[in-house]
Amino acid sequence: MYEVALFGAGRIGKIHGANLAAQPGIRLRYVVDVNAAAAAELVQRHSAKVADTEAALKDPAVQAVVIASSTDTHADLIMRAAAAGKSIFCEKPVDLSLQRARACVDAVARAGVACMIGFQRRFDPTFTALKQRLDAGEIGNPEMMVITSRDPAPPPVSYIKVSGGIFKDMLIHDFDVFRWILGDEAASIYAMGSCLVQKEIGEAGDVDSTAVTIRTRGGRLCQINTTRRAVYGYDQRFEVLGAKGQLQAGNHKPTQVFAHTAASVSEDKPEYFFLERYRAAYAAEIAHFFDALANRKPVRTTLADGVKALELADAATRSWQEGRPITL
Ligand SMILES: NC(=O)c1ccc[n+]([C@@H]2O[C@H](COP(=O)([O-])OP(=O)(O)OC[C@H]3O[C@@H](n4cnc5c(N)ncnc54)[C@H](O)[C@@H]3O)[C@@H](O)[C@H]2O)c1
Repeated sequence: MYEVALFGAGRIGKIHGANLAAQPGIRLRYVVDVNAAAAAELVQRHSAKVADTEAALKDPAVQAVVIASSTDTHADLIMRAAAAGKSIFCEKPVDLSLQRARACVDAVARAGVACMIGFQRRFDPTFTALKQRLDAGEIGNPEMMVITSRDPAPPPVSYIKVSGGIFKDMLIHDFDVFRWILGDEAASIYAMGSCLVQKEIGEAGDVDSTAVTIRTRGGRLCQINTTRRAVYGYDQRFEVLGAKGQLQAGNHKPTQVFAHTAASVSEDKPEYFFLERYRAAYAAEIAHFFDALANRKPVRTTLADGVKALELADAATRSWQEGRPITL
């Protein structure tokens, strides 16, 4: 039985809490949140206890921590959990500062504990199936990739202000997907951004729409387009082109019913947002983390992957700010 402490009882903390509670061999022992009401609600739902950070990390019964608190708490909690000898699952991004993220790598290596970053898209059934077919050679060597990654609606401006900007908050997932699918690293990146959706986002120093072009070390090309507003739902697609054809990963829809009438042919809109679209992926990543711990296997999305994605997000931010391509 793995005893677990969960940090953060917000949007994603609730998802992880439910997945931890549903996982055989795991007991959610503590929930830690500076928002007492949020913590109280979650412990009641899953028969856990409220604790503060120190008490949770000091308890020798706690073997693993799941960090789902606000981004600015991640690096500190990773370092403290590593020093306490706990296995760590932490949400993306590792931190907003590359320097602090790299310090986490050192702390985790020193402690010799497992550390996985929550890039759940690598556990999405559709994306995983595409990756397997790509690796099996169905379209030959991948040459080009196009990622469409659009949120249905922007978050509150208060969230934007502490998010680290769209490249670190939102595109960090797309940078990880790009590295994973192509199995290649970026050599240069050119990011453009505009504020087209909500002027307050621009006033907060951020953009809400981006177009990013990446050239890899192997000469492959990738384009990523994102926006904070797609009125038809969460638009999460990508395509990979190779010498022998193309593989496309499409959106998930609540049902596969099509309506054909004299006026039109219609189908369901894509699932609304990440909580719905990646429901299966969130469950699978938590199951993978504890399976890896139990069987002493490496985790699939490492702290190093978290740092690599942050390097890309950092370079993209600089590219947008300076209006030029950045060589990595
Ligand atoms: N992988 C994904 O798809 C995904 C999706 C959403 C959010 N996230 C990440 O998860 C993290 C949380 O995002 P969210 O949307 O759930 O935010 P949220 O604001 O809904 O929840 C964050 C929670 O952390 C708590 N918190 C703040 N400081 C704390 C501390 N020192 N100790 C314990 N708890 C603390 C807050 O009170 C809040 O309840 C962010 O880093 C975000 O980037 C990842």
